[in-house]
Amino acid sequence: MNILVLSGDGIGPEVCDEAVSTLQVLAEKKGLEIHFSKDHAGGSAIDTYNDPMPDSVIEKAKASDAVLLGAVGGEKWDHLTGAMRPESGLLKIRKELGVFANLRPVAVTPALADASPLRPEAIAGTDMLVVRELTGGIYFGEPRGRSGEVGNETAFSTMVYSTAEIERVARVAFTWARRRGGRVCSVDKANVLVVSQLWRDVVTALHKAEFSDVELTHMYVDNAAMQLVVRPSQFDVILTGNLFGDILSDAAATLGGSLGLLPSASVGGPVGLFEPVHGSAPDIAGKGIANPVAMLLSTAMMMDELSQPEIAAAIRAGVNSALDAGLRTADLHREGKTTKVSTSEMAKHIREAALNALA
Ligand code: IPM
Ligand code: MG
Repeated sequence: MNILVLSGDGIGPEVCDEAVSTLQVLAEKKGLEIHFSKDHAGGSAIDTYNDPMPDSVIEKAKASDAVLLGAVGGEKWDHLTGAMRPESGLLKIRKELGVFANLRPVAVTPALADASPLRPEAIAGTDMLVVRELTGGIYFGEPRGRSGEVGNETAFSTMVYSTAEIERVARVAFTWARRRGGRVCSVDKANVLVVSQLWRDVVTALHKAEFSDVELTHMYVDNAAMQLVVRPSQFDVILTGNLFGDILSDAAATLGGSLGLLPSASVGGPVGLFEPVHGSAPDIAGKGIANPVAMLLSTAMMMDELSQPEIAAAIRAGVNSALDAGLRTADLHREGKTTKVSTSEMAKHIREAALNALA
């Protein structure tokens, strides 16, 4: 198995290193051979190659079985614009790999319920999967640009979806719903946007034709944002476009008390991309205090996708063991209630518990 590791910027390298060591010990125990190769992405690729995602890295990604990505971006590169921005590198690899479905699971376990910004009774039972369209919509739509003179400029981005783009991501959402709670809530802005009206029509038609056993509801994105913080437990699978999914998944992610918990898998092409939802968090980079859980859970999603469900389950068991034991990195620590640990201490506990779980 060949895994390309693009640890990127900020806390990316710290959490990626823990993911790699964890995978190494688990693979060894299972007698599975994993070969890791490393390269740059985002700011670190700008520093190395003067390009946030050179074609050489894309080629390596395409030739591997999966790509593990940390995070990109930071103040050092904030003055750059357009295709030279670290974030553009991330968008490029998503597009090039054709990973049109971004899966972001949000489950708030009892151990985390009191870390949530919501009251425990409001958060109880929250277990949802956000399926975000990832390679289309307003992130990539043409035309886009700026015109006019400074002081009197106009700028525009285009939110565009084709039937085929909507259908393929909706199919992923419906398929996941069958494996989970059997319900899809499709989120759009069909009361205003023409592109959302097509979105709704296509999702409805596909549901009728192929997935009538799944329960389908539709919700406007403003209402969905409110429902997420009022009664998050109502959701099973949320299906939505690129921009709405970006926004809603950050809101959903923090329900568990920290962005540092939420993993993601981007799939749909021949090679999947696995990255935590959190960013590069430059303010805490290099301090050894980042939460490695989101990265480790992303690694678990990667192992599931690569047909290694036992390793995936072991990693998840390791994470639960650490949380149940009251271990917390700084983002989740509560004085007098939990035990504060560093990135590597947290990861070490997870690794050891995962190894035991694999026995
Ligand atoms: C995410 C991030 C990215 C996005 C940025 C870094 C380009 O916010 O994965 O949610 O907007 O998709
Ligand atoms: Mg985001």
